[in-house]
Amino acid sequence: MLIKKISTTPYLDQRPGTSGLRKKVKHFQQLNYLANFIQSIFDALDSPAVKTLVLGGDGRYYNQEAIQIILKIAAANQIGKIIVGRDGLFSTPAISCVIRKHQALGGIILSASHNPAGIDGDFGVKYNTSNGGPAPEFLTEAIYQKSQQINRYFICQGEDLPLDQLGTYILGEMTVEIIDPIADYLALMEALFDFDQIKDHFKQQKFQMCFDAMHAITGPYAQAIFQHRLGVQPSALFNHIPLPDFGGGHPDPNLVYAKTLVEKMYGEAPPDFGAASDGDGDRNMILGQHFFVTPADSLAVLAANAHLVPGYQGGLVGIARSMPTSQAPDQVAEKLGIPCYETPTGWKFFGNLLDAGKITLCGEESFGTGANHIREKDGLWAVLFWLNLLAVKKQSVAAMVKNHWAEYGRHFYSRYDYDDLPLETAQTLMEDLNKQLSTLVGKQFGSYKIYIADDFSYQDPVDHTITAHQGIRLCFEDGSRIIYRLSGTGTQGATLRVYLESFAQDINQHNQNSQQVLSTLATLAQNIAQTQEKTGRSQPSIIT
Ligand code: G1P
Ligand code: ZN
Repeated sequence: MLIKKISTTPYLDQRPGTSGLRKKVKHFQQLNYLANFIQSIFDALDSPAVKTLVLGGDGRYYNQEAIQIILKIAAANQIGKIIVGRDGLFSTPAISCVIRKHQALGGIILSASHNPAGIDGDFGVKYNTSNGGPAPEFLTEAIYQKSQQINRYFICQGEDLPLDQLGTYILGEMTVEIIDPIADYLALMEALFDFDQIKDHFKQQKFQMCFDAMHAITGPYAQAIFQHRLGVQPSALFNHIPLPDFGGGHPDPNLVYAKTLVEKMYGEAPPDFGAASDGDGDRNMILGQHFFVTPADSLAVLAANAHLVPGYQGGLVGIARSMPTSQAPDQVAEKLGIPCYETPTGWKFFGNLLDAGKITLCGEESFGTGANHIREKDGLWAVLFWLNLLAVKKQSVAAMVKNHWAEYGRHFYSRYDYDDLPLETAQTLMEDLNKQLSTLVGKQFGSYKIYIADDFSYQDPVDHTITAHQGIRLCFEDGSRIIYRLSGTGTQGATLRVYLESFAQDINQHNQNSQQVLSTLATLAQNIAQTQEKTGRSQPSIIT
């Protein structure tokens, strides 16, 4: 087969962010934009020739076209074999699972997670390494460096492959294996959870669930797992047909965007359990009847009860949470006598801890929970974990969480996002906060006294690398916290995230409304950072 060497020139904006390279679809469709980045990945990898890679995406607009281009570039770069999900699909957790199971060199994931899709939406490319997790910083930096010097890429001339047909194909000298994107993942879930017990719970206890796939990748997975394997009614699955534009929605599983689910679970006679996942299937939201489980509480409850589930019967070695995530999991770790690590935002920081066997479970406030079975967060895994626990405990979701608070205390929590700010405005706000830090320690604001004010920096306990400037942290003496940081995943302007947390041990205070409890802290956060003066906005764009 003819291999062509195409001359090209660098694009200067190909530095991967928190989760790979994310840009508008139209940006990716510019001449050679995708090809440059893919060739840069191959150029940065250590002898990728003859090795196996895994390839697939969340099905968003441009997924299939991109896969055909990537296959041809891979064949021209002498990659030995590529495993592709049927129709070019793989959820992010499933691709992590497949990389590990098939001992691949790595995988290319096409996704922009929960960002809107469609011709005017976003697209993304992320490289994961042989452990199944996101590429470490030195590799993403190496890819970026290659992209800045690129002057050619290699591509095979040939027909497109029939991505909808399972089987083995040859492209140049490369083997392409098109596999069922669900089977390996389902087998892994069956090894971790007691599917028979969950199935029985649905049947015997008349326990009902519903799941919102938000027109994204988890639809087919949910159908295979919940409907075909666990016997739930088809009507329990909402928006389960994946669409290239995700139905025009914003598949981020939170109280604002998972509308269908929230209406159902807060409506009349809701099912016992409700869940949603995001665009690429790594995030999750858990709801009970008229009850929302915060992601940090979810992690804490899973950790406290993990011994009840087959995959975690032997106990946990440690847990980890990202810095802005509430401290609810820390309390569980303390009681279990295991460490709780506080990492910067982004899943990659958990990877080293998981690989070194230092943690079993981990999670982030942004609706991401996961464990050592793969190296990505995992939405459906979290849902199955909850279902397994509910089947064992035979309690409602709300009862499980409230019992948990009674034992450990409650962490009230909320995140305020200021979207689409001019980059300079956001950066100045953060710089000004930074300058104030030394004067803030020891300062009293009403009943709140600051005892730590710093710019969070993390030293990886495994490879000792230091990651600095990970957000401004204000910790108060009563356990409350205010955190400020800028998003690393946006594709337009800057997003300022303000995270609020306050702690109540007393059970009599546990039934209060979160936003009310946090209102003083919210005002304080606005005053200290002067958000209104600096951004011209009196309110955040979104509160979750
Ligand atoms: C966001 C979340 C973060 C998550 C990341 C990728 O990043 O806050 O927890 O790991 O998406 O899913 P951010 O936009 O805040 O940088
Ligand atoms: Zn995601």
